Amino acid sequence: MDIWHIRGGQRLEGISFVQGSKNASLPILAASILIPLRCELHNVPKLRDVDAALRILRHLGCRAEQWGNEVYIDSTTLSGSSIPHQLMEEMRSSVIFMGALIARCGEARLSLPGGCQLGRRPIDLHLDALHRMGAEIEEDGAEISCRVSKLHGADILLRYPSVGATENAMLAACGGKGETVIHGAAREPEIEALQEFLRTIGAEVSGAGSETIRIGGMRPQDHAVQRIIPDRIVASTIACAAAATGGHVELRGIDSKHFSTVLHFLNKAGCDIINNNRSVSIRSDGRLRAIGEVVTEPYPGFPTDAQPVLMAALLRAQGKTVIRETIFENRFRQVPELRRLGADIRCSGRTAEIQGVDFLHGTALTATDLRGGAAMIVAGLAAEGETVICDAGHVTRGYESFDLCLRALGADIYLEY
Ligand code: EPZ
Repeated sequence: MDIWHIRGGQRLEGISFVQGSKNASLPILAASILIPLRCELHNVPKLRDVDAALRILRHLGCRAEQWGNEVYIDSTTLSGSSIPHQLMEEMRSSVIFMGALIARCGEARLSLPGGCQLGRRPIDLHLDALHRMGAEIEEDGAEISCRVSKLHGADILLRYPSVGATENAMLAACGGKGETVIHGAAREPEIEALQEFLRTIGAEVSGAGSETIRIGGMRPQDHAVQRIIPDRIVASTIACAAAATGGHVELRGIDSKHFSTVLHFLNKAGCDIINNNRSVSIRSDGRLRAIGEVVTEPYPGFPTDAQPVLMAALLRAQGKTVIRETIFENRFRQVPELRRLGADIRCSGRTAEIQGVDFLHGTALTATDLRGGAAMIVAGLAAEGETVICDAGHVTRGYESFDLCLRALGADIYLEY
């Protein structure tokens, strides 16, 4: 059990270099098995989810190691095509290995993935896309086995721009004969990063970042090097912490375009934002104002992953803010815990109304999921007194050395393992 100890009331000040992206690293780690390959990945965050992906790679017979933020993979020795439940349940992204295994081995055996419980989270779009490319899929309870004699190109129409289904279809299509076109694709920056990696290993891929992605032939390379893009949700979290504590923080090594919607709302709440593309500074005097309505949407809309931390930053804002969560059915799990700090939040269905209060007071909380846990840290930094968060390892799934990162900005925080 991780226990976060926070003494609130400190303004955050200083420069923060933002870690590499969890959600860009994970699909690239899965893509490393598409062909026999040796690859080096740089700026990979040291996270529980990355470690889980490396253990899957090793279970499949690859060499996979992380040294600091460098990862080395040798998938020339891949020998398996099934992933046991205990590895699958550790995170949602384990399901992305399905497309890669089908492309490489013509078969995959795995179970339903784990990850944050944010709602039903079915994988019907993943399975439908693979089926259209010729895969025969058997589902027996939680077990899924896929087999294909001849993977072929297909026209895939995603009824919803699912990030994971787009990534799985892109990976499987790299092993197919003929062109695959994904219509209604997700447009997240992580999809563009995956396209860059696939091109590096010899795949003909285009259109990432738009709604239509084309995947053609493959001229396999045997070596690849890639630097992981910065984590736009970690950047958003630190920006929200600066706003909530009345601080002045400069984020470096980021692409501010990737979280411009978050910066837009912090500016609307009264923060001064100075944007230099590769760095952005957020300055707030601490007393924010409510910002009307925020609706979470697929990229380039406001990210659902930043919803809990923006909520936490607005708990003491003057006036009422309404947040509508359109992506996941159950993404207000942090609310009952934030109320324990004295927050005034009313939820009905997928809408939360946050009425700003003058004070928050520290108390004992329990982290509910990755971004919910991060929101409790942001709120604890703005609260008076001590906040103690019991965390079954949610936050360290996505934030590398977050206590050190915040302490470097003047926060009074430490993590007890
Ligand atoms: C990715 O999850 C991210 N995870 C999530 O971040 C993020 O919240 C989500 O995209 C949305 O932006 C990673 O990249 C590892 P989806 P993913 O498929 O791929 C429904 C974090 O905190 N859907 O785009 O699982 C689904 O139920 C995590 O870092 C289907 O109905 O998300 C959801 O309502 C949490 N059928 C919506 O689409 C499907 O087959 C979006 O899901 C697939 C999805």
